[in-house]
Amino acid sequence: MLFFYGSSNEKLALEVAQKANIPVGKMEITRFDDSEIKPRILSNVRDQNIIVFQSTSNPVNESLMELFLIVDALKRSSAAKITAVIPYYGYARQNQQHLPGEPVSAHVISKFIETIGIDELTTVEFHEDQITGFFSIPLNHLSALPILANAVVNYLKVKAPLDPSQFAVISPDQGGVERTRLFAQHVGLSQIVVVEKKRNLEQKHVTELVQVSGESVKGKTAIIPDDVIVSGGTVLHAADAILKQGAKRVILAVTHADFIKGSSEKLQNSKVEKVFVTDTIELPDENIFPKLSVISVSSLLADCIKKLE
Ligand code: R5P
Repeated sequence: MLFFYGSSNEKLALEVAQKANIPVGKMEITRFDDSEIKPRILSNVRDQNIIVFQSTSNPVNESLMELFLIVDALKRSSAAKITAVIPYYGYARQNQQHLPGEPVSAHVISKFIETIGIDELTTVEFHEDQITGFFSIPLNHLSALPILANAVVNYLKVKAPLDPSQFAVISPDQGGVERTRLFAQHVGLSQIVVVEKKRNLEQKHVTELVQVSGESVKGKTAIIPDDVIVSGGTVLHAADAILKQGAKRVILAVTHADFIKGSSEKLQNSKVEKVFVTDTIELPDENIFPKLSVISVSSLLADCIKKLE
């Protein structure tokens, strides 16, 4: 096996290659002044099984194109099997038509992945499980929720199962209910609370609170799991709603940190006590803030890759 990676998350790529004990192949990427790119495979990959690692995060279109060109270069160099490891699958939230006239972008990406010749895909926490149905190649859909649940429990200095009179797990919107139930199972809680949100489909990154349903959160420590933070609007709305209902502390446990300008400041200045995310997306230094803890998915990915050999 040989390991190649695109430029979106070099740190995680190298950790995964090392933990999976797979040598990194030689490749150069030329970046032209008109923004076109040209990868060139320099190692002999003939008849070899190849891992191509790329988080398709912001800048999402560039990350995707880099992945596709690397895969094409590998195919033309006679690689035997290509497994893509995409820790963050960009466009996952566009998994259905929310308004008439829109594309289903998550499906479009799956078609590119299959057409370009990727034989197998490993990824982490799709926005919804429904996306798995877009693929006909083998798919390893991993979850970072158990790792995040462990990190939260350690931080709170308690042990699972959590005491339901002290702790509550909150879904920040209706779409997160299944994910939140799974997270609740990992910390040993059987009930969840749901914050109902309405997204303003005509405006970017704008959400409104509808209502909170479920057991009382009064005096409890609330934990909010989610798949991704972008603007922070969803989780912070939910946090505010829960605090208004009497929760005493709020902890966020979110797989992907696809922060945009201002998200870090909003999270740091919010009433949320602690923000756990994973390293599926590489965060620049300016997006790191005191309340943030980044938990690595390198072992999760490496363990999965080891089983592919
Ligand atoms: C929503 O359906 C997703 O699960 C996330 O909660 C949401 O997309 C995150 O975006 P933002 O941080 O901008 O609210």
